Amino acid sequence: MKIEDYANSGILGIREYVPGKSKKQVEREISVPEIHKMASNENPRGASTRARKLYRELEKSLHIYPEIYNPDLMGKFASKLGLAPENITTGNGGDGVIYNSGMAFIEQGDETLIPEITFSVYETITRIMRGVPVFTKMKGTGIDLDDIYSKITDKTKMIYICNPNNPTGEALPVDQLEDFIRKVPERIIIFLDEAYIEFTEEKYRPSSVKMIREGMKNLFILRTFSKIYGLAGVRMGYGISSPELISLVQRVKPPFDVSIIAENLALEALDDDEFFSTTIMETAEEKKYYYTTLDNMGLKYYKSQTNYILIDTGKDGREIADKLTKKGIIVRPAGSYNFPSCIRVTIGRRRENELFFKFFREILGK
Ligand SMILES: Cc1ncc(COP(=O)(O)O)c(C=O)c1O
Repeated sequence: MKIEDYANSGILGIREYVPGKSKKQVEREISVPEIHKMASNENPRGASTRARKLYRELEKSLHIYPEIYNPDLMGKFASKLGLAPENITTGNGGDGVIYNSGMAFIEQGDETLIPEITFSVYETITRIMRGVPVFTKMKGTGIDLDDIYSKITDKTKMIYICNPNNPTGEALPVDQLEDFIRKVPERIIIFLDEAYIEFTEEKYRPSSVKMIREGMKNLFILRTFSKIYGLAGVRMGYGISSPELISLVQRVKPPFDVSIIAENLALEALDDDEFFSTTIMETAEEKKYYYTTLDNMGLKYYKSQTNYILIDTGKDGREIADKLTKKGIIVRPAGSYNFPSCIRVTIGRRRENELFFKFFREILGK
């Protein structure tokens, strides 16, 4: 018996997810005075201040299950978004929502359209479900909506669009994206991953929630608490869609996939307006610092609508990332995204950004 014979044959085509290195992993490998993780687009300010305060009180609830489907959260998201609780599903991080929705929607043989350069989990869940990922061309480094449209067939079940896209941080022009969403046949689900939308300038933010409010059935939006609210370690994501699609996802969702900690901290973080706006303000400020410094260094980079920047090092991105790691700065080499000379760097706070540039300049001799 070969190991492959035990497998769901769909998963054999999956490449293992390569995450950014963890701080602990680097601590085990090298000894440096400080380690800064700038590889996974977490919030360098830590978690929402209000969520952190509440966290200490949660120890008295650790022995009980969370409420099934997290109705308080569904209600709160709904009222914030001008929708009904039936428009909301929660999950174990955004990844959990990608899995739950994929399980609900993709059947064996269904095609899903996925841009060639994007977040890898859409392909993973397609393969798990024995669907067929169909990759669409990029327009330069951006998502090519025309190519996606031209690849629609009778078998197309879902279209995955990450906006702003990972790893470039580029956002699609709002009018083009909205026109596209409206013209896709209603039988096809458009999965719009908005993991970074809170960082995006107003002019690049599509009226995606409004479209659902107006009754669009086949649009499914993903949001997460991992980035703007600083709760990546807690695992909390949510989906926004029509009651019809949400009801299908609720059928397959593991009953308690959002822990009592995640549920309560997310509820609290949602009210943390100060943390939210400081994060946005500081990220925008630091992004300018990156742009200016990279311009001075004469390096190419991608203008980002998120909390990370893809930088073309002009060398082997993996080697540069390894050298930075040895100095205690963990960044993400972008070879797995097809940008072999690039690194993706999470925008940190000023001190760690300065430290990043100190070592980056040393390594590049610039
Ligand atoms: C584009 C995109 N979508 C979804 C996620 C999933 O995030 P999480 O599972 O932490 O909510 C990430 C995480 O980095 C991401 O970059």
